Amino acid sequence: MAILLAGGAGFIGSHTAVELMDAGYEVIIVDNFDNSSPEVIKRIEEISGKSVKVYAVDATDRKMLEPVFSENNIDSVIHFAGLKSVGESVSLPLKYYRNNIGSTLTILELMEQYNVKNIVFSSSATVYGNPKKVPITEDMPTGGCTNPYGKTKFMIEDILQDAAVADKNLSVVLLRYFNPIGAHASGRIGEMPNGIPNNLMPYITQVAIGKLEQLKVFGNDYDTHDGTGVRDYIHVVDLAKGHVSAVNYCENHQGVEVFNLGTGVGYSVLDMVKAFSKVNEVEIPYKIVGRRDGDIAKCYADASKAQEVLGWSADLTLDDMCRDSWNWQKNNPDGYK
Ligand code: UD1
Repeated sequence: MAILLAGGAGFIGSHTAVELMDAGYEVIIVDNFDNSSPEVIKRIEEISGKSVKVYAVDATDRKMLEPVFSENNIDSVIHFAGLKSVGESVSLPLKYYRNNIGSTLTILELMEQYNVKNIVFSSSATVYGNPKKVPITEDMPTGGCTNPYGKTKFMIEDILQDAAVADKNLSVVLLRYFNPIGAHASGRIGEMPNGIPNNLMPYITQVAIGKLEQLKVFGNDYDTHDGTGVRDYIHVVDLAKGHVSAVNYCENHQGVEVFNLGTGVGYSVLDMVKAFSKVNEVEIPYKIVGRRDGDIAKCYADASKAQEVLGWSADLTLDDMCRDSWNWQKNNPDGYK
């Protein structure tokens, strides 16, 4: 029995592939390599010492995706396939809806046709919009997303809920990620943003390596301990291990279950800059600028449900995250190129 990773060559997918293989699962990766590199596959195989079956196809394309289902005995799907740039989604909303919603529908149709009953979905804390309180629990209201990227996550959660109402044998696990950073300790796989990074950690590592001059801190007048935005940063390897627990759970249940995957601890932008500089002994020049549109003051998880139900919790520290992000950047200044 195999686990199909749609979008498995991406940042979170590649780390999850390694952890699943380590746990003894057979992994099949589907990726169109639009936003990732075939080199990732070699590195996953190098780390795990095992080979991975790969289909270079677009998960929105039913004809291209069908052989993956007809040629393999798939037990569960983890659906990572999707575009993820908030800014780009505002200027190219149709591309985001076509890709993110389209891949979900195609996967669900093929799952129905080939009697595959388990799906784990890569959702995001972005579905909570601007939360009324922190830490955020899974039962808090969702919606109020300010951009098409976030709306696709919200809509896909709804689509999966509806599919599970119609098919009582379907098992759906929605994983709401907080802020994944870090990289595999080997320094062989990590995050590869296109162009200038939007997210904080890849921006910091590119300043550290001298590709970017200085970090712009978006606002220091939020209601937080130092005025800068607070987030729940989680090491991508911990997040990947959360998927192993989620697949295990998904295969033994029916209906829909939602889990926050975070550490439960919030750090500010300046906490991150200080931690990175201290652990890696590199200065990060920064300046305070105005707030970024759509940003919120504080977002961190109540991670207790995943601990209680899945038996999973994040182990790696902020120092591990900073060290591994830098190790990846230093060893791969141009990503997988
Ligand atoms: C962002 C997305 C979110 C998405 C997530 C994926 C927005 C508004 N939200 O979350 O929908 O699910 O990425 O990882 O884009 N910061 C700076 N300077 C920078 C970059 C970021 O000060 O150059 C600050 C931000 O204001 C924020 C924190 O760092 O306070 C984290 O930002 P980021 O890494 O972009 O993540 P989110 O905004 O939480």
